[in-house]
Amino acid sequence: MSQSQGQGPALDNLLTESRTFPPSEDFAAQANAKPELYEEAKADREAFWAKQAERLHWDTKWSQVLDWSDAPFAKWFVGGKLNVAYNCVDRHVESGHGEQVAIHWEGEPGDSRAITYAELQREVSKAANALASLGVGAEDRVAIYMPMIPEAIFSMLACARLGAMHSVVFGGFSAEALRTRIEDSSCKLVITTDGQYRRGNPFPLKPAVDEAVANADCVEKVLVVKRTDSDVEWNDRDVWWHELVDSQSDQHTPEAFDSEHPLFILYTSGTTGKPKGILHTSGGYLTQASYTHHNVFDLKPETDVYWCTADIGWVTGHSYIVYGPLSNRVTQVVYEGTPNTPHEGRHWEIVQKYGVSIYYTAPTLIRTFMKWGADIPAKYDLSSLRVLGSVGEPINPEAWIWYRENVGGGKAPIVDTWWQTETGAIMISPLPGVVSTKPGSAQRPLPGIGAKVVNDEGVEVPAGGGGYLVLDEPWPSMLRGIWGDEERYRDTYWSRFADQGFYFAGDGAKYDDDGDIWLLGRVDDVMNVSGHRISTTEVESALVSHPTVAEAAVVGASDETTGQGIVAFVILRGGAGADAGGADAIKALRDHVAKEIGPIAKPRQIMVVPELPKTRSGKIMRRLLRDVAENRQVGDVTTLADSSVMDLISAGLQSGKSED
Ligand code: WTA
Repeated sequence: MSQSQGQGPALDNLLTESRTFPPSEDFAAQANAKPELYEEAKADREAFWAKQAERLHWDTKWSQVLDWSDAPFAKWFVGGKLNVAYNCVDRHVESGHGEQVAIHWEGEPGDSRAITYAELQREVSKAANALASLGVGAEDRVAIYMPMIPEAIFSMLACARLGAMHSVVFGGFSAEALRTRIEDSSCKLVITTDGQYRRGNPFPLKPAVDEAVANADCVEKVLVVKRTDSDVEWNDRDVWWHELVDSQSDQHTPEAFDSEHPLFILYTSGTTGKPKGILHTSGGYLTQASYTHHNVFDLKPETDVYWCTADIGWVTGHSYIVYGPLSNRVTQVVYEGTPNTPHEGRHWEIVQKYGVSIYYTAPTLIRTFMKWGADIPAKYDLSSLRVLGSVGEPINPEAWIWYRENVGGGKAPIVDTWWQTETGAIMISPLPGVVSTKPGSAQRPLPGIGAKVVNDEGVEVPAGGGGYLVLDEPWPSMLRGIWGDEERYRDTYWSRFADQGFYFAGDGAKYDDDGDIWLLGRVDDVMNVSGHRISTTEVESALVSHPTVAEAAVVGASDETTGQGIVAFVILRGGAGADAGGADAIKALRDHVAKEIGPIAKPRQIMVVPELPKTRSGKIMRRLLRDVAENRQVGDVTTLADSSVMDLISAGLQSGKSED
């Protein structure tokens, strides 16, 4: 395919995928979002967002929808006041839905608990009273380091209710990672558990907190939920949840806070070692989390059972387990454990048990399900599923189709949702009753959102062209900065296209001939081979579309002749056969990529490996693979979910190496 036009180089648009799946008439007729939503937003963006904000309860109405005069620091719904927790809990009880189940919680060992909105209101009120008794007030920071148990959600909502900011730190992070996050935002309180269940076994969690707070003077108290009955060391600052919270009053009057009152900080990794504390505020964040959840997932509070498989340690858990869904009066499943405990059909068993109708997960998990085999979901009744979602990385068309056929019964629309910790809520996604979906494409900005693909000069590329994804209009749930580092906020997101005033997302993207957007991975994951920019994602997608390949990771390794050469690491499918790793088979794979994308994308080298190095959130650590590909000593592996993976890869390479 041709080089993009416009000025300067841009990503070559190589992979072609032409299948489309229009919504069924029945789905379109009942959908929350109709085609007019696009028209409405286009006609008057601010009026459109004001209408979305009106879906919430405001104690005081705003006087101005958007104040962008202090860009890049936005103010949305200026002068408005609301309580975020009241919007997610109390108002549903007041409107007569106290007996509706909010959360069907499923513990990893098989224990479960159904929590109604009335009960949620009592639990959150008790937790808020308890936190207040420990001296937590508006704008104080509270670290939450917990597994996926109901108390984690009660804690987040209790903070929101008091106007305190939570900083949830993923329970799989180390003591050191927790320490830097607690100290960066001077947390006053840490909420944790004695231990957590992981793959069928209890593991202690509190020792990591003890280590993290040992020298953290900011921390006054550690509130501990008993989950596993592990032996714990007890310190003066420690308080048991069941001793403090259970004896509190279950009545608590929420106070209304300013629309721009801070709601939470969530740390995310950047290009330097120091994590960025992404700051979100109240009114705009909740408006967009709620609006997107209602329209993208088509939630019907009376009939749907929703399940987002993320952890609350990530933004997806914040926006699509806690704030978006609860503001829409969801009935949802929250699952504590891993997908293969005690068996590889656990998710499908849960879908069947609760009649889950909306399921939102990540491509890495979909590819894992593929690896385990289609016969596993086939054993369960998944007919309740009517909308499927994907988030976190580009979903390759092969996985998309597998998901549609083996999970969605060949008919549930799939929404591929692009967004970031920084954007707070979904930005690019098809609307399931309006847009004909395309495997692998997030397609178009949601109504009210401005996103474009531009070249190096910030000029929008034409249909068929590739470049950088930018957001060209402020949006309600945008980050309001990086905690304590205004300079870094401006530098990271606003300096690249400062002249145009665009937010730079850091992702490569392209338009197809219909003008739909395809995400191509982070720009640092884009390779440059003989002057052609090729996305690692496109090559990975091509590899995974071969019948013998379960998973693939591609890196650009420096190459004397071509600048970068493409090096691929592949995991073969279970049934691939003994020859699948042999020289002929590797050649066939290289030819397959050449056929799918073009000879330019043919990997220089393909290595068969037993596992890929992934972070705890499932992102492939290409940096480590690049070390292997460039014959360097492998760098820091401390953020890997399983640090033995690199040893496995090195061992596997002795047999699987192939070059020509
Ligand atoms: C990537 C997760 C392609 C992207 C919500 C983004 C995606 C980063 C998609 C943010 C998608 C997320 N298609 N890429 N549907 N969704 N990404 O902050 O590179 O953990 O910049 O937020 O994930 O990751 P984060």
